[in-house]
Amino acid sequence: MNILLLGSGGREHALAWKMTQSEKLTKLFIAPGNAGTSAVGTNVDVNPNDFEAVKKVVLENAIEMIVVGPEEPLVRGIKDFVLNDPEIAQVPVIGPGQKGAQLEGSKEFAKAFMQRHNVPTAAYLSVTSANLEEGLAFLKTMKAPYVLKADGLAAGKGVLILDDLAEAQNELKEMLGGKFGDASSTVVIEEYLSGIELSVFVLTDGHGYVVLPEAKDYKRIGEGDTGLNTGGMGAVSPVPFADEVFMKKVHDRIVLPTVEGLIKDDIPYKGFIFIGLMSVEGEPFVIEYNVRMGDPETEVVIPRLKSDLVDLFQAVAAGNLRTKQIEVDERSATTVMCVSGGYPGDYEKGKEITGLENITEGMVFHAGTTEKDGKVVTAGGRVIALTAYGKDKDEALAQSFKNAQKLDYEGKYFRSDIGFDL
Ligand code: AMP
Ligand code: GLY
Repeated sequence: MNILLLGSGGREHALAWKMTQSEKLTKLFIAPGNAGTSAVGTNVDVNPNDFEAVKKVVLENAIEMIVVGPEEPLVRGIKDFVLNDPEIAQVPVIGPGQKGAQLEGSKEFAKAFMQRHNVPTAAYLSVTSANLEEGLAFLKTMKAPYVLKADGLAAGKGVLILDDLAEAQNELKEMLGGKFGDASSTVVIEEYLSGIELSVFVLTDGHGYVVLPEAKDYKRIGEGDTGLNTGGMGAVSPVPFADEVFMKKVHDRIVLPTVEGLIKDDIPYKGFIFIGLMSVEGEPFVIEYNVRMGDPETEVVIPRLKSDLVDLFQAVAAGNLRTKQIEVDERSATTVMCVSGGYPGDYEKGKEITGLENITEGMVFHAGTTEKDGKVVTAGGRVIALTAYGKDKDEALAQSFKNAQKLDYEGKYFRSDIGFDL
């Protein structure tokens, strides 16, 4: 079958790399893709949020399935757009409709969903300017640190964690006043959870589901988890503390009630559910849902999946995922993200990347790259993810770091302590 993959990051390169290993794939198109995806498929210069342009690609290339990488087209309703257009309605979309995408698109929706279905999560209050006083009083009843979350999508910047009550009360007012635009016209105040984070990934057809390998990502720019938040600086899978006992708790208390909750709420859902968890003394709590795969988690989760991904997507589309089981590589996979100098603040683009040909062991997943005059150049904050396998995380990490040394561009930076806390 011909497949169109939407997105342009390391996640999409890893998904593309995996799909091209399937005999079920005829042609793969990626919109817009990057310099890495052009080596495994055909890039088309189309913005995934321009649904009419996506439709044109589907019709012109006899596309039989659309796989959505990032959240934005999902939250904007690409699935509903396709379903409601008679010319392309038969093309399955891997990714939820607008209603299901609210699990990521609205923190308030996600919290209410968790409460309704008894999924363990932090206590919270949802605040708008109409109940600001209640919000300020709620903060007073809580202990520091204070967690404030913009309800809507805020490009990963909408969560504030503050040590001081007066500062938290002030930030609440500023958020409601438009600090993150419309995204923070509702703010979720949340109890702070102290523990260690990990990410669990589920692929579902709305009834059946498979739980993919878990991963831990490293969001801060600086070593020792310091400095500003980024999209993610590296990832490790498996996560040693996520043993069988812990993962059974995750399954019974979180995965199952989540999938059943979607059924009870009459929300059809065909796609990935990314569950961001906090392990608080061995007990899992949900921090957030995302309605897509994580990046850079995909760059370690997908390499550990031995099963045919296109076959799994077809089962999702057909609604018979129940009949499938997945096979997982026992090895560890790690990834180290090379980023542009200055990221996550301002950075320059267009720097020539050299040394890629020297990387002979492991996988190179392009994140923010493009081709210019026959050269590969930087085109984003996160540039290239270097994934490697090993018998354990240390062996895999040694290879990822070695590969990160081998490539070069002006301003290259990576964290050399990925996995330090495991
Ligand atoms: P998010 O943008 O929802 O991924 O949140 C960003 C980060 O804030 C998470 O990865 C956590 O490290 C942290 N965080 C979010 N909610 C909480 C919470 N309730 N308690 C502690 N940390 C949190
Ligand atoms: N790495 C975190 C995310 O994809 O949201």
